[in-house]
Parts: sequence; structure tokens; C-alpha cells
Amino acid sequence: MSGLFSRKPIAALLAEGENQGGLRRALGVSDLVLLSIGAVIGAGIFSTLGTAAAGEIKATGEVVRYGAGPALVVSFALLGVVCGFAALCYAELASMIPQAGSAYAYSYATLGEIIAWIIGWDLILEYAVGNVAVAISWSGYFVSFLTGFGVHIPDWLTHGYWDVHSSSDPAIRTLLDTAPHLGGIPVLINLPAFVIVMAITWLLVIGVRESTRVNNAMVVVKLLVLAVFVIVGAMHIDTANYKPFAPNGWRGIHQGAAIVFFAFIGFDAISTAAEETKNPQRDMPRGILLGLAICTVIYMIVGAVATGLIPYAQLKSADPLAHAFDVAGLKTFGWFISLGAMVSMAAVLLVFQYGQPRIFFAMARDGLLPPWASKIHPKYRTPHITTIITGVLVATAALVVDDDATYDLTNIGTLSAFALVCIGVLVLRFTDPDRPRPFRVPFVWFTTIAGAAACLYTMYGLPPAAWERFAIWLVIGLALYFAYGFKNSTLRRGRGPVELEPPPPIEKE
Ligand code: ALA
Repeated sequence: MSGLFSRKPIAALLAEGENQGGLRRALGVSDLVLLSIGAVIGAGIFSTLGTAAAGEIKATGEVVRYGAGPALVVSFALLGVVCGFAALCYAELASMIPQAGSAYAYSYATLGEIIAWIIGWDLILEYAVGNVAVAISWSGYFVSFLTGFGVHIPDWLTHGYWDVHSSSDPAIRTLLDTAPHLGGIPVLINLPAFVIVMAITWLLVIGVRESTRVNNAMVVVKLLVLAVFVIVGAMHIDTANYKPFAPNGWRGIHQGAAIVFFAFIGFDAISTAAEETKNPQRDMPRGILLGLAICTVIYMIVGAVATGLIPYAQLKSADPLAHAFDVAGLKTFGWFISLGAMVSMAAVLLVFQYGQPRIFFAMARDGLLPPWASKIHPKYRTPHITTIITGVLVATAALVVDDDATYDLTNIGTLSAFALVCIGVLVLRFTDPDRPRPFRVPFVWFTTIAGAAACLYTMYGLPPAAWERFAIWLVIGLALYFAYGFKNSTLRRGRGPVELEPPPPIEKE
């Protein structure tokens, strides 16, 4: 069992970063901020906002979580602080180790192989499982967009089995009886969610990438649609909706924050672009922190408008922002919000579906995954095998699972990775004190420990079922590590990294 905590020398990571076969260093700070907004604003604000405000109750009447009510703005502000701690830690590591593997690579250098594996495994929750939730949310807005034009897809084709099964809405639950049955089982699938993921997978395989120009256009659409929501919505706020402000007290603010944390995921994803950043030492911390600050302010404003527009309890819906407009009698704007949400979430799907193979790439290079896991397609120059595997798994899960449970699993996995990154910064200050740190976390003891503690406390706000699923996920991950990575790790076997062609870089046009 020796070597479980072997640490990868930072010099080796840096050398890999330099030898990536020509990842071009083309991104500046404004590109990073735009990439960050592109990856961050999506299903979190367009969907989890509803559950975070209203809470969630099972069909049996059991409370799964308490909602924050109008105090959702407090949840957002607190999350800005929690993520700020983690962002500072990411910034120190990304400026010090500008390498494509993100938190996985950092932890390999700081906390050792097994922790790195666990983080890599957690990042699958963040990227791939996160995308299952985004796809389901996309489908919700797609359905409401079509409804605005009088087009109606049968409900059994737009609701996954587990989504219906866990719903407390009697109108949805009747689908268990009214849907067509096959062999006694109701056929309930979320077809639009499946189709959007497969379409994006196909684009990624043939090499249509999130170029910075496309990303910038998407960011404009996101900001425009949220601006319309805020401006039009603000004119129809009924201040009576703000009372009571915190209907479930601190418990609601905490549990609301734990699910709406999903809205913040992605600011860390830009650290994977460190190898393509012109001046990562200076620009990476600025890009990460500025992107996070901008998104936090936007979320607080949107949260305040949404909870002022209609009673918070009515926000529980697959498409809460469009639904809020509908309920407030602003149907004409509803379709516009839906369209903007669909575009925004397609962008998030693209970024995460694109990022996952890069994590696999870093893990395969270290021998923790088989080398085929990051093979590059000879014609399209894309990591087609992992892209297709990720796509099929995400699309299939999106067909049937429950979105809230998926958000929870994504959040718990991401928060645990953030906590480990915070600890890693502190550890590295002792194990490698002399390495140049172009960006240093201020008040390192406080920031790292408060960051890790805040992430754990946010996780604690998630329902017990999320912890159970997370535990199962970790057990599967450890079993895989001991079955494969433990035997094949290049570091522990004293071999150099596996020679793999890197996935193509983000394009700067
Ligand atoms: N933060 C991203 C979203 O909300 C994952 O969709």
C-alpha cells in the first residue's frame, strides 16, 4: 500500500504544461472573465433558484429542504464569500501551477495520489453529473418556450421517471398512471434533455469548440436576458412578497444556499485554461476573482427581483424565471426569457462537456486511467472516445433522473473538491515554501481554513440522500482506483508520464 500519498513534483507538472504540443498562450484577463461568465451563468440561476427560494417537499409531505424565501439574496451573498475563499486558493495554485488538470493536478502535487484521484473523481460529478442537471433544466425552458407558441409535447416525453416519482405536484404525479406503459412500467422520459446533450456531443466530436468569439456572444445573450428580467421584473415587484423575508430562518438560508451553490460552479473551470493564458501569473487570479464578483452581484439582483415578483413558494418550477413572468401576467416576455435561458444553458453544456475530457486527459497521462481514455481522433483532432462516452452517459441519465437530486450530487462533489483545494494551498506553503508564488492567498491560515470549513458547512445543508449518494460514488471511485490506477500510476511505478496527444486548446479568434 506504499505510495498512496505520493506527490507529483511541481516541476514535472510545469514541464508537462510547457510540453503540451503547442497549446497557444492567447487568453488575456478579459477573455478569462468572459469565459468564467460563460461557464457560470446557467441552470443554477435559471432553475435551482426556484428550489432554493421555495424549498422542496416530497409527495409524502416530508420536507426534503427548507427554502430561503426572499432571503435568497443573503444565500447568494454568503455563497459569494464561500466561493471567494475557494477562488483565492484556486488562484494561488493556478498561477503557480498553470496546468490543464485543474484541481486534480494541484492536489497531485500537494496532497498525494489518492487524494488527487478522489478529486478527479469528484470533478466528474462537477462536470458530467452537473451537465445532467443542466440538460434537464434546458428541457424545462424548451418546453415552456414551445408552449408560448402553442406547441405542446406530450408530458410523458418531457419528464423523466425519477423526476415524476419524486414530485409532490399531483398534476405531475398523475403521469405515473396516464403515461403509456411498457411491461407494466410507465414510459416517462425527458427526450429534449437527451437530444440536446447528444447534439452537443456531436458538435464536440466533429471539433466545433467553444471558441472565445462564440463564448463572448453567448455571454452577451445571458447578460441581456437577465437584464430584461431585472428591468421588466423590477417594474412589477409587489413588496408584500418580501414579507416574511426569511420564512424558514437561518435553516432556509443555509439549505437554500446549498442547492443554489450550483449557480457558482464553473468559476474554477477557467483554471483549466491556465496553459493557454498569456500571463497566467497575473491574469488567472484577476480573471477568477473578477468573474466571481460579477456573477455574485448579478445573482443577488436577479434573486431579489424573482422573489419580489411572485410569492416565493410559487417559484418551485423547472423554469422559475419564465414561470415568474407568466404568473405575474408578463407572458409576452416569458418566451424571451426561455429562449435566453436555453442559449445560456447550451453554452454551459458545451463548456462542461468539453472540459470533462481534459480532466480525463490529465488522469490518463498519469496512468490513473487507461491511455485510450484520451485518444485524439485522427481527423477531427478531438478526444472523441471520452467525449462520446461522457455524452452517452450524460444524455441517458438526463432521460430519467430527478433534477434536484442531480444538483445535490454535483454540489456535494464540487464542494468537497473545493475544500481539498483550500487545504492543499496551506499544505503546499509548508512542503514547498520557496517556490515562487506570483499570487499569494492573503491571510493564508484564515483563508484556507475558513474556505474549507465554509465548503463543508455548505455541504452540510444538503439533504441526507445527497450524502448517501456521494458516499456510494466515493466507494465506486476507490474501487476503481485500486483495480486500475494503483497498479498503473506512472508516478508510483517511477515511469515518465504516458505520452498522449493533448486535446486541442480553446481558440482565440
Ligand atoms: N454554474 C453552472 C450553471 O448554473 C453550472 O449552470
